[in-house]
This record gives sequence, C-alpha cells and structure tokens, in this order.
Amino acid sequence: MDKKFSIAIAGGGSTFTPGIILMLLDHMDTFPIRQIKLYDNDGERQAKIAGACEILLRERFPQVQFSYTVKPEEAFCDVDFVMAHIRVGKYRMRELDEKIPLKYNVVGQETCGPGGIAYGMRSIAGVLEILDYMEQYSPNAWMLNYSNPAAIVAEATRKLRPKAKIINICDMPIGIERSFATILGLKDRKEMICRYYGLNHFGWWTSITDQEGNDLMPVLQDYVKENGYVVNTEDFQHKDPSWKDTYRKVRDVYALDPETLPNTYLKYYLCQDYVVSHSDKNYTRANEVMDGREKQVFSAAEEIIRKGTAEDCGFHVDNHASFIVDLARAIAFNTGERMLLIVRNDGAISNFDEDAMVEIPCIVGKNGPEPLSMGKIPTFQKGLMEQQVAVEKLVVEAWAEKSYQKLWQALTLSKTVPSGEVARQLLNELIEANREFWPELK
Ligand code: NAD
Ligand code: G6P
Ligand code: MN
Repeated sequence: MDKKFSIAIAGGGSTFTPGIILMLLDHMDTFPIRQIKLYDNDGERQAKIAGACEILLRERFPQVQFSYTVKPEEAFCDVDFVMAHIRVGKYRMRELDEKIPLKYNVVGQETCGPGGIAYGMRSIAGVLEILDYMEQYSPNAWMLNYSNPAAIVAEATRKLRPKAKIINICDMPIGIERSFATILGLKDRKEMICRYYGLNHFGWWTSITDQEGNDLMPVLQDYVKENGYVVNTEDFQHKDPSWKDTYRKVRDVYALDPETLPNTYLKYYLCQDYVVSHSDKNYTRANEVMDGREKQVFSAAEEIIRKGTAEDCGFHVDNHASFIVDLARAIAFNTGERMLLIVRNDGAISNFDEDAMVEIPCIVGKNGPEPLSMGKIPTFQKGLMEQQVAVEKLVVEAWAEKSYQKLWQALTLSKTVPSGEVARQLLNELIEANREFWPELK
C-alpha cells in the first residue's frame, strides 16, 4: 500500500472544491495522495479557490504537491484519477435553466425537466473534452464524474465514448442514506445494506437491512409517512429552506408507492404542480446558491488568502462526498466495496432496456464496477423510467445529430412538460439563451 496517488480536479473553481480537498485530506491514511492539481477553463475564478487551497495544503500536508492551471496538458498528465465537477455556463446559465421553464409554468430545476435538458446540452461537450484530455495525457487514469446532469452525461459517454474509463456518480442517495442512518439511530450509513434501482435523480430503495439482514424498512417507512426525510442534519448544503422543503415533500412522493422509499428528485416529476406553485419565478435555487454557498465559499477563500493562513477557516468538509474517495480507493486497491453507481443496465434490471444508464448497486474493484442484479421492476416505476430514459437518450441524439426535432421530442416527452406546443416555445427560448454553448440545431 505504498503507492500514493495523483488527482486532477476538473472544475477547480467549483464551490465544492474546498470540501472535496478537505475530504481527501481526511482520508489520507486509507487513500494516500502525492499530488492534487486543479483545472478549470475560468482561470480567474479558479485562482481564488486555488490560492486558498494552496495555503491550506501547505499548512496541513506540505508533502502533497499542489498546482492549478487552465492548460489541459499540465492538468491531465501524470494523474491516476480525474475527479470532475464542472458546470458549463456556471450559475448564470443555471439561473436561466430554472427561470425560463417557470415562465411557462413548468418545473425550473437544475437537473430535471427542461432546465436539466438545457444543462445537458451544455455539459456533454465539456465532459467529453475532459475525458479526451485524460485519455491523451494519462491513458491509464479513471475519470470519476459528478458533473451534472449526470444522467445525460452518462448516456453521452456510454454512446459516444463506450470504451472510456469513466464512472458517473451522484451524492444524493448518500445524503439520503445519511438521513436514514440518523432516523435509525445508526452512527454510519455503512451499517446498512441497501438495494436501490432507477435512473440518476430518479430511483427507489427497495430494501434496507442491517449487517445481519434484519429489515430496517418498516421503521423508516413509519417515519417517512409522517416526516418525509426531514431530520436534524449536520449537512451544510441541505440546510437551506428549499432543500428542507424537498426533504419534507418526500412524504407525498412516498405515498404513491409505500413499498419503497423514493429519491427526493422524484418530486419534480410526481408533484410538478406543487413545485411550480411553490417556486418564486424571480428567485430560484440558483439565486439561493449564489447568495449563499458561492458567497460563503469565495469569501472564506479570500479571507484565507488575506490572512495567509487557513487555520479556523470557513471551508467545510464535504462529508457525504467521502463516497468519491471510497470509489477511488475501491479501484486503486481492488476493495470490492458495494456502491451505488450510474452504469449500463446490461440486464441488471431484467425487464428494462439493456442500453439504459441506470443507478444501481455495484461491486467495485480494479476493473471498475460490476452491477448487481436488481431483477424485475414493477409497472409504475418501469413506466416512469422508460419515459425518462427516452428523454435522456433523445437529448444525446439531438446533441450528436444537431437535431431540433429530437430535442423538441425530448422536451415534449418530459413528464414535466404539458404539451408539444409548450415544448416548442420553451425550446425556442432555450436555444436563444444557450447560443454560446449548444451546437447549432438543424
Ligand atoms: P460552480 O459553478 O461553482 O463550479 C463549476 C466550475 O466548473 C466553475 O469554476 C467553472 O468555471 C468550471 N467549468 C465550467 N465549464 C468548464 C469546462 N468546460 N472545463 C473546465 N471547467 C469548467 O458549480 P458547483 O455548484 O460547485 O457545482 C459543480 C458541479 O458539480 C455541477 O455540475 C454540479 O451540478 C455538480 N454536482 C454534482 C453532484 C452529484 O450528485 N453528481 C453533487 C454536487 C454537485
Ligand atoms: C445534490 C445532487 C446534485 C446536485 C446538488 C444541487 O447533491 O445530488 O446532483 O447538483 O444536489 O445542489 P445545490 O445546492 O447546488 O442546489
Ligand atoms: Mn446528483
């Protein structure tokens, strides 16, 4: 175990970079690191975060080499893992993704509905570019991608880079499982064994047991029936009012299928009318994040640079991001850990498209993830998933073929959009807003 790893973080200027670095440092004993490099295509934004991280690393782990750059050839050479969290178009575009649909009384959300589709059309090129850089400069490296919308990005990499060493991941189930652990009075979510299936931001837990196999679902379901997933959490991100509302609303999503426990994101597909009527068309989650997390993280970074020290700094460890280290470690040391990942279905859900990218438990080792069989799924979930996966596939086809028609179909098919006509109007407005980022559609 004397190998030490070299990591590139793509999207170095992300609000999540400090939390990920702190989390990596917290796990140095089980996942030793020799080098961290930040890469971003916005050098100015990245320099603020990187300047502070440099001071923090010098104080806490001077033996770790640290650098930051906007040059791909510097960022992606000599790396074992690329951890990617880019946001193509940044919060300026997220705000439009959320606000444009709301004008049409359609859900305005970062990764779901028209906003997610618009974001997907921007992200595909950005993520493929980083994947190609990695393959060029460090052909043996793995890319652990959590750039959103992960469902569309995963479908794009499946279709357009089928052999690439990329694993797409999401922290939402981890956050929810941490709530489960709190409800159950457990110290660690890893005391539970979970069965879960779905698409990214679109799935259900079907079984939760303890290590001895005792069923923990009934206690959780009793709790969720009354409270949704609201618990007293230490979780920094999910403390904001909009997240609290999402956790509470799980109660109603759960009622639709009391046999399972739902992902919070199903709210956007199953409670669309509630979501729209409870949205402020002039102040969406993007505004909340810009006024909250972004200001907080960037002012903490400025403070560290001004003081020249990161002691008592305002950065927060991103606890639920520890699954990224678990994943890197599983590959690096062939641990065989069981993890929820976004992978090709390939029969794991036996009555679902084998070419679909699904989120299911996998055993992870040196050669990547091996999906576990989830068997047959019920008609309700299957129907919803078929509709949603078709949306995701049509978006990727639209991007690859530059097809207006397919993107119009994708929007029309989204459960969040009421009609082809609303989809067409929305599409035309999204095209205008995204000129800088989308391929020109024919
Ligand atoms: P952010 O805007 O603060 O950071 C994103 C960074 O990416 C910016 O510094 C931006 O300049 C950079 N960037 C944009 N396009 C790029 C490109 N083509 N190449 C290199 N860098 C580029 O955003 P954030 O809120 O910190 O989120 C970062 C990303 O992580 C988003 O995609 C978000 O959705 C995702 N995320 C995913 C999960 C998950 O569950 N998968 C969890 C949290 C965040
Ligand atoms: C969860 C999801 C991510 C998403 C994030 C949004 O963590 O799993 O995919 O990007 O929430 O959080 P935000 O605080 O930016 O709204
Ligand atoms: Mn996610």
